[in-house]
Amino acid sequence: MSAHAALAGVSRVYPGGDGRAPLHALGPIDLALRPGEFFAVVGPSGCGKSTLLEVLAGLAPASEGTVTFEGSPVAGAVPEGVGVVFQEDASFPWANVYDNVAFGLQGSGLDRSEIDARVRSALAFMGLRDFASAYPAQLSGGMRQRVCIARTLVLKPRLILLDEPFGALDAQTRLLMGDEVLRLWRETGATVLLITHALDEAAMLADRVGVMSARPGRFIDVVETGWPRERDSRLAERPDFGALVARLWSSLRVESIKALGHT
Ligand SMILES: Nc1ncnc2c1ncn2[C@@H]1O[C@H](COP(=O)(O)OP(=O)(O)OP(=O)(O)O)[C@@H](O)[C@H]1O
Ligand SMILES: [Mg+2]
Repeated sequence: MSAHAALAGVSRVYPGGDGRAPLHALGPIDLALRPGEFFAVVGPSGCGKSTLLEVLAGLAPASEGTVTFEGSPVAGAVPEGVGVVFQEDASFPWANVYDNVAFGLQGSGLDRSEIDARVRSALAFMGLRDFASAYPAQLSGGMRQRVCIARTLVLKPRLILLDEPFGALDAQTRLLMGDEVLRLWRETGATVLLITHALDEAAMLADRVGVMSARPGRFIDVVETGWPRERDSRLAERPDFGALVARLWSSLRVESIKALGHT
């Protein structure tokens, strides 16, 4: 089957200016996401992971190479069918949870009852039914991230791109949020690309884990996890789980040291 979304020979160079040299942030990189797979990306800080996601989402141009989603070129805008959850908490502080989640559907041409049905269903799915009228400041960090995921869910994306969505959460909450994302992946049938700095998270959630080099980020290893589709955070108890995390770390360690400038 052909790729659901793909990068072919993609690089991204941030232009210089004001005395700054141009910065080669990413690539050249190839990536072919299989329809319905869960792909995780790990890599040292600053290696170009967010840049990769922005290019794949059509939010930033590739300097070289081609980006495709469902066979069509991606450029200049997020294609219909692609949903993005950003690295920082991107909830709107001035809107309540309901309006935050409904935001992307305003002006979509859907009628009010369809918008309401989608918002209610996304809130229920993310465990936020009782918080529809709360404001982000009244929620925990994990709940705010769930609002951001719900906001993407209402768009019924076929490809979901998540950039370190749980980075700011404690380890236990992160594990449970990971289970939520697995459930979302299973029940929507969407293709998921998750960026994370947590190797255990990548190892637990993904069908394949791509390990990136220090900047400019390229894939230095792509590991098939071989997990069943029905899975959750209890995978961490399996004896082969530790070996998988160790494999990821052995690929990543040298690159992380390079990224810190210690070589
Ligand atoms: N808008 C920008 N203009 C110029 N340089 C940028 C811009 N955005 C990112 N960069 C540079 O590109 C490189 C890659 O950044 P990116 O945000 O993609 O890294 P990352 O892997 O997501 O890092 P982290 O794990 O810390 O989130 C960094 O060196 C960063 O300084
Ligand atoms: Mg980033």
